[in-house]
Amino acid sequence: MNTNRLSKTIAEALNAQMTKEAHASQIYLSYGAWAESRGFSGISNFFFRHAAEERNHMMKILEYILKRGAIVDVVAIPAPPENPKNINQCFERVFKHEVDNTKSIYAVVKLSLEEEDWATWNFLQWFVKEQIEEETMAMNMLDKMKIAGGEKASDEALLTLDKDLEHTPDDARSAEDVTTAQP
Ligand code: FEO
Repeated sequence: MNTNRLSKTIAEALNAQMTKEAHASQIYLSYGAWAESRGFSGISNFFFRHAAEERNHMMKILEYILKRGAIVDVVAIPAPPENPKNINQCFERVFKHEVDNTKSIYAVVKLSLEEEDWATWNFLQWFVKEQIEEETMAMNMLDKMKIAGGEKASDEALLTLDKDLEHTPDDARSAEDVTTAQP
């Protein structure tokens, strides 16, 4: 008896998104290693923690595909891009990666809507919400970088930024979690 409840198109799209999350994890891993080699251990720590978070996203999709009785296709993960030139460019890229990933998730949401696959649509809402946090996190990093002086940031400003990111929570708070007591 065939227990698969995902269409071929949805299964392929989810498998591709699963690999994209694995790719994101590799990107953060490479940025973390690069930052550490430049002496920015706080930034590096932040990226290593985030690499683990992306891997959890990958696992979440993998488990969902299996739960729906479809086939998980574990394929090669593309290599991360070359190392950034500086911290400013690194944070700009992080923002771009997250916005690109949001677009990719939206495309799968659209597919699930077209196919009236409400289980997948509902499952993906977690990712839609998560991406709001991820983009906010990336935007906050860019803001901090701008305050530090952008491309012209002094070593002292970068050191302060590095210390700050060591303790920055992995996720930014999303708008729906904000209250008047905890803005
Ligand atoms: Fe899994 Fe940063 O998106």
